[in-house]
Amino acid sequence: MPVAVRTAALNDVPAILALEQEAPGAAHWTSEQYNKLVGRGVVLVAEEGGRSCGFIGARAVAGEWEIENLVVAARVLRRGIASELMRELMRRAQSEAASAILLEVRESNLPARGLYEKHGFREVGRRRGYYADPVEDAILYALRFDG
Ligand SMILES: CC(C)(COP(=O)(O)OP(=O)(O)OC[C@H]1O[C@@H](n2cnc3c(N)ncnc32)[C@H](O)[C@@H]1OP(=O)(O)O)[C@@H](O)C(=O)NCCC(=O)NCCS
Repeated sequence: MPVAVRTAALNDVPAILALEQEAPGAAHWTSEQYNKLVGRGVVLVAEEGGRSCGFIGARAVAGEWEIENLVVAARVLRRGIASELMRELMRRAQSEAASAILLEVRESNLPARGLYEKHGFREVGRRRGYYADPVEDAILYALRFDG
């Protein structure tokens, strides 16, 4: 079944929370935090057969977009859905003249790191002991549009 990517609305937040809570590698937020991100940032959802199967959320700070979270449902992993979400986010960032997309990820999260590297992100730094439970370094990635 084809996957459609669209802008999230406030009534997508319960499905976004359900996806996020099933994904151990994801950042965990409250519905209030997602409501704010939907209102002030860019949240895209992927749908298959009318059912949400993934989302990506970002916010723009002074021309730099920061990816806050990205999750694809376990039942549909490795079918290119995160890549579709990422490509659409990149299109939107470029169309709004963003200078870069930035993110941080747990060092051990090899699926996510593989995804980011496939889409041209480069490792630009490390925050030691940034994550808790378990304590782990964050790897910082950037995709620059301004060379
Ligand atoms: C990371 C995640 C979003 C990838 O979603 P996905 O839809 O399966 O990804 P795609 O099918 O688009 O994969 C694109 C590329 O990512 C990399 N990748 C994805 N899953 C991978 C895995 N299990 N192992 C290694 N590389 C992987 C590959 O380079 C892949 O390209 P390929 O299939 O041509 O080899 C998904 O695994 C997920 O939701 N994880 C839990 C939440 C999370 O960790 N989010 C990131 C927070 S920073």
